[in-house]
Amino acid sequence: MNDSLVKKIQTIAKQFLPSAAELLEIADQFQKEMTKGLAGGGYLKMLRSFLPIPTGQEKGSYITIDFGGTNIRIQVVELLGVGKTRLKKKLLFPLKNPTANYDYTSPTATAEELFDFIAAQIGKLVETNQSYPLGHTFSFPCRQLSVNRANLLSWTKEIKTAGMEGQEITALLEAALQRANLHQVIPVAIINDTTGTLLTASYRNPRATIGSICGTGHNTCYLEPQEPTTDKPMIINMESGNFNKFFLSPYDKLLDQSSEKPGQQALEKAVAGHYLGEIARLLLFDLWQQGLLFANFGKQVFHQPYSLKTRDLASFLEDNTPQLAVIRSWLQKNCCIPEPTLEECSALKTIARLVTTRSARLITATYAGVLQHIDPELSHPHVIAVDGSLFEKMPLYQTTMQQALADIFQEKARHISLVLVKDGSGTGAAIAAAVCQK
Ligand code: GLC
Repeated sequence: MNDSLVKKIQTIAKQFLPSAAELLEIADQFQKEMTKGLAGGGYLKMLRSFLPIPTGQEKGSYITIDFGGTNIRIQVVELLGVGKTRLKKKLLFPLKNPTANYDYTSPTATAEELFDFIAAQIGKLVETNQSYPLGHTFSFPCRQLSVNRANLLSWTKEIKTAGMEGQEITALLEAALQRANLHQVIPVAIINDTTGTLLTASYRNPRATIGSICGTGHNTCYLEPQEPTTDKPMIINMESGNFNKFFLSPYDKLLDQSSEKPGQQALEKAVAGHYLGEIARLLLFDLWQQGLLFANFGKQVFHQPYSLKTRDLASFLEDNTPQLAVIRSWLQKNCCIPEPTLEECSALKTIARLVTTRSARLITATYAGVLQHIDPELSHPHVIAVDGSLFEKMPLYQTTMQQALADIFQEKARHISLVLVKDGSGTGAAIAAAVCQK
């Protein structure tokens, strides 16, 4: 690589690779924010779920909605007790589909249109002569009034459907079910996807104390041993995507300025799948503007916001060919660069590594903050249950998190396991419904 490019990448690496000492500092700050949030202040919303963890003995058949932002999934899930579950039916459909000419996430769509659409899909799965208790995973910040009542505080993840912020979500769903004549479907619980992930993990293993999503969005919940208003154990949805006590690079600030909600969700914008491709694009655009990469190519290279996807970063990281052939053909196809140099391909891979490594390290520091809060001596084993495409599919992501845990806790890190919990959102909603029906 030429000297100026090497220097520039080194500067970026300093900003994107928090040291062990910086991780410890972030964990401390996170823990302080948790304490503030439990007392009603600070940046972490610390939202009550009104749910403890399950016993694993819960049984029954439940219909679930998983509403996370991109797709809606309707499932019929059976809880068999003894920590086992069975998926009986499943329907998946996108919330926006240009070919079918709809987009329920846009500001021109209303809450009623969105929920009528969901009710219509539910109608495809249910029989008329049977009653269905329903668990709803609604993965946005909600102030819960009870286990079945939740007001949407604000949209995140760039969703913009009109007339929903401030509304009570179960009431909107109930009204749509009535309009669709689905009187046999009865909503009984509404939860966050992090809560769903923790419920699913703890249904199988009581050591699970933290549930987290590392996917399109990012957030974490945990089992608070003494929830202040009840003095009892309760799962708390921290909405940790709004944490902001860490170094923000100039690229994060640029991304924030042109986002739907500037000034909010700083951590989520730095670590989540919806944004990682865009951060990498901003970095590459900067390198191009400074004449360090793709010098012979015009503005079309990396100028279009959100044109670089997080899944592209994954494919760059998977390219272990000596000449980086995958990245090379990606550049040829997507950026019309006939002969990318090896140096340019390798810069793409390095940027992908920096952006994804920072994501994994920052998130791990927040887990450390939670562990310091619930078990300061780390005297018990802990399972951190994680769902989401980054954790599941991004090359080296889990290893990087494990390394970050070792940086923070040294040998005590062996008490902590990170486990993938697939479909916590669907199964968790059924468990929530069962727990609150008991
Ligand atoms: C966003 C939402 C949060 C959700 C997370 C993961 O951060 O605000 O509620 O848990 O995305 O889907």
